[in-house]
Amino acid sequence: MQSDNKRTEGDINDTPAREKWLNNEVGDATKKLLDKDARFFLHQALSTPCLDVLKGCEGPYVENISGKKYLDFHGNNVHQIGFGHPKLVQRLSEQMQTLSFSTRRYTNEVAINFAEKLASLMPSDLNRVLLTPNGSSSIGIALKLARAVTGKYKVVSFWDSFHGASLDAISVGGESVFREHIGPLMPGVERIPPPITYRGIFEDNESKCLEYLEYVFSKELDIGAFLAETVRNTDVQIPSKSFWKEARKLCDTYGILLILDEIPIALGRTGKMFAFEHYDIEPDILCLGKGLGGGIIPQAAIITRDGYNRFGDISLGHYTHEKSPLGSMAGLTTLEILEEENILEKVKNDESFICEAMSELQHKHKIIGDVRGLGLLWGVELVKDRNSKEKAVQAAEKIMYECLKNGLSFKVSAGNVLQLAPALIISRHDLNKALQILDGALSSIKTD
Ligand SMILES: Cc1ncc(COP(=O)(O)O)c(C=O)c1O
Repeated sequence: MQSDNKRTEGDINDTPAREKWLNNEVGDATKKLLDKDARFFLHQALSTPCLDVLKGCEGPYVENISGKKYLDFHGNNVHQIGFGHPKLVQRLSEQMQTLSFSTRRYTNEVAINFAEKLASLMPSDLNRVLLTPNGSSSIGIALKLARAVTGKYKVVSFWDSFHGASLDAISVGGESVFREHIGPLMPGVERIPPPITYRGIFEDNESKCLEYLEYVFSKELDIGAFLAETVRNTDVQIPSKSFWKEARKLCDTYGILLILDEIPIALGRTGKMFAFEHYDIEPDILCLGKGLGGGIIPQAAIITRDGYNRFGDISLGHYTHEKSPLGSMAGLTTLEILEEENILEKVKNDESFICEAMSELQHKHKIIGDVRGLGLLWGVELVKDRNSKEKAVQAAEKIMYECLKNGLSFKVSAGNVLQLAPALIISRHDLNKALQILDGALSSIKTD
């Protein structure tokens, strides 16, 4: 069985609770497909073998082959505008019938408009864009660009962080589930402890983290970049404004580029278009992905400073689907939908509603330790005892399966944090429904 340190990113797929789910909740037709899936796909932590088989997705829901619908509070963070948004589906169908691919050396109007739109949303001189199909490769591009700009190859990142599954991304990531059996990683990475704001008891270690950051910056002369998620997505760690302002200042002092990874959390998830806007700072390179493709097309990007546009003689991100007309149409339309449907404002209203609902749940269920959230990204930490640091790992898994049984899907991060990330277009009715399912599951755990 995979050990508890494998649970940082998400829940795992070989536990007794998973076996019980497969025995009790899965019908014959599903079982047959799950077996076939497990026969032909390479097994790996966090995916194959799977727990159900989907046939549809719409708005905030995914639907399995028996017609059961799950409110998807996981969605791999691609579902800001919900699944299968009709406007996006129509635009993509039209795009497919005109320019479905753009060969290298040619450009296309939709890609140009997409880059222009991304640049228009960013502050100051952050107006240079490079497109790429996935988040991990945007991290790779950012790391390469930082090396080229600074002439320094080292990078500082956080333990327990996730920046993608490619070899360069796991080299700067801090989760062991991605590194075991893999051997030597990219050299020059200094990982430091992250600014965790809660660990069962209130313990603010941001100042320690900043001290450490400055120490490493001052000792290691070859550091060119500091890479971090503005807000850590997995277990929803939200640094303070003073943390980010100070970290930005340290980067400026030591001539180090700040790369912010907002792949899962940009585009309204936190109530702002970009999470760095909460902090009154700006990155030198911003990495975007996931929801940028509107939940349909794989699409990612980096946005960086005009002044770094100095490396026309090397290839920083030579990916086959670079100026993808479909990806660009998906990105452009997603940004349009976020604006037209006033989604940022909606998310802010939803945040107040969830905040209140969460404090009621916290009051009612002693198993809930800390609850952290911003916009429509929430982490509910489950503990054996509020005064201890002990994680309620088994209970978290039971609650997840109980919620799945009742039609609510989310992931469990760090072993004990229920991560709630619904589609941003979710109705108040569906939000309420999800909270009721969660409340029921939390109540059921007491009587076990
Ligand atoms: C914070 C963060 N960075 C990078 C990535 C990698 O993105 P992709 O899976 O598109 O390569 C992810 C994906 O989960 C992520 O959550």
